[in-house]
Amino acid sequence: MKNNNLIWHHASVTRARREAQNKHKSVVLWFTGLSGSGKSTLAHSVEEILHQRNCRTFVLDGDNVRHGLCADLGFLDEDRQENIRRVGETAKLFVEAGVITLTAFISPFRADRKHVRSMFTHGNFLEIFCDCSLEICEQRDIKGLYKRARTGEVKNFTGINSPYELPEKPELKVETGKTTVTEATRQVMDLLESRGILIDSYRNKVSCR
Ligand code: ADX
Repeated sequence: MKNNNLIWHHASVTRARREAQNKHKSVVLWFTGLSGSGKSTLAHSVEEILHQRNCRTFVLDGDNVRHGLCADLGFLDEDRQENIRRVGETAKLFVEAGVITLTAFISPFRADRKHVRSMFTHGNFLEIFCDCSLEICEQRDIKGLYKRARTGEVKNFTGINSPYELPEKPELKVETGKTTVTEATRQVMDLLESRGILIDSYRNKVSCR
């Protein structure tokens, strides 16, 4: 519940000053898609390239965040809603800190993604749909969870007995079931460049590919 006696404290070290120091803008890259669709792999691959280019980055990853910040949450619809809300708030802090923030959460509900988007000014939230068919995710089944969901051992599993609502207008759709990680990474880097996140004069000094 919100406390009316709280007053916002304005920092003298602003986001703009941090961005100037970093020589890049901050932004959220919001990766969404089924479990096993390649969100984390792609987010970490993009982060690797950005880090090599001296960018300030951080990946917030579903499996990791659920060990701490969201350890009290399960996979009921309302738990996922709260999970995404907390991650959105966390991402907002990171963006204020001047960081290129990459989030890898299934985030299956359109309304929840829309809510997080509404927390950011236009252009600061870039939704990246990792489009990979259920068949391929299930074939990969890296964590063995699809198999356990099919037998009923794991309940409310996204794509099996809990819905995934397709993004309607993501800033980028990457066909992670068909393309290589290298190609998918290039597509995300192109998005960042086309959105002017990586400031020109700096970008040209260091090769990223
Ligand atoms: S979200 O729906 O709230 O966005 P999140 O990305 O944090 O999900 O966590 C998804 C990860 O939790 C999956 O990659 C998988 O490893 C694990 N997991 C465990 N149970 C479930 C479930 N019922 N549905 C989906 N993922 C699950």
